[in-house]
Amino acid sequence: MSSRPAASDDVTAPAADPLAVASLVDPYLIEFLESRGYSSNLHEASAYALLGPGKRFRPVLCMQACIACGGTAAMALAPAAALELVHCFSLVHDDLPALDNDDLRRGRPTLHRHSGEAMAILTGDLLLTLAFELLAERTSNVAEHVRELAGATAAMIHGQVHDTLGGLDPGLKALDRVESIHANKTGALITASCRMGVLAAAACGVGVQPGSLEAMSRYAKALGLVFQITDDLIDVMQTAEHVGKRTGKDAAAGKLTYPGVLGLEGAQRAACEQAERAVEALAGFGAGAGSLRLLCNQVLSRTK
Ligand code: IPE
Ligand code: IPE
Ligand code: MG
Ligand code: MG
Ligand code: MG
Repeated sequence: MSSRPAASDDVTAPAADPLAVASLVDPYLIEFLESRGYSSNLHEASAYALLGPGKRFRPVLCMQACIACGGTAAMALAPAAALELVHCFSLVHDDLPALDNDDLRRGRPTLHRHSGEAMAILTGDLLLTLAFELLAERTSNVAEHVRELAGATAAMIHGQVHDTLGGLDPGLKALDRVESIHANKTGALITASCRMGVLAAAACGVGVQPGSLEAMSRYAKALGLVFQITDDLIDVMQTAEHVGKRTGKDAAAGKLTYPGVLGLEGAQRAACEQAERAVEALAGFGAGAGSLRLLCNQVLSRTK
């Protein structure tokens, strides 16, 4: 019997479910974390934050962007894992009492509820640091990846400051303010995810078409807005049982959100417009970008 996988098992095939490549991420993260040899309390807290039942959306984007450029998912696995490390750091700190003060994440107690606040702060610090250690050890174009991920992380933190503490120009209109917050706190890491997929393909010798990085950035910028607008809509429309995190909190916390500024229908319309913009940006890519096109609709209609 042949040991070759059946076509339906080939998670890198463009026609496959775009999210199927997510299954590559956890084994890689587990192996990387175990290779560090941390004491059991730090290892347990890190694994808890990193490996809970999330969507692995940023790693998926990174691998699918690599596939769209003619590469494979495996070529982008190291940057994909680094992106999930930064994302999980951002979730752990976002949930802390000083920020959103949440007790539920990915259907389980948040890390500070599970391990205590000191361990949650330190584990967040560790996950952020590990992302860059991973890039340094396991990618060939380290400087390019580090520049992307560091810039996006700084933008994310900037967005979190504006979301939590304010500080944006008070002369800006509410819609411009919320767009800026969302573009930074969520969009920047999504943009880096797509760009790092392109960079991973190029580093592996794939003949990436000129202009691909710019087109992918346009795609990701629009998709990042769709992603955070739908997150805002989920907060208003879904239950904690369904989503695995508390809902109905944004308005109570005085957060600036798309439904808060535009109303439910206006926010849904804005998400649709951005999804169309994202698909348009992929016009120069061939069949390999099929999964990225599908992802736009999946993000637009997501309920968790
Ligand atoms: C939640 O991100 C935080 C936001 C930027 C909205 P995700 O919705 O990707 O969370 P997980 O990783 O699936 O848990
Ligand atoms: C968080 O935005 C963005 C991050 C940088 C983590 P939210 O605060 O809306 O994310 P959730 O709803 O808690 O997942
Ligand atoms: Mg928040
Ligand atoms: Mg939050
Ligand atoms: Mg939210």
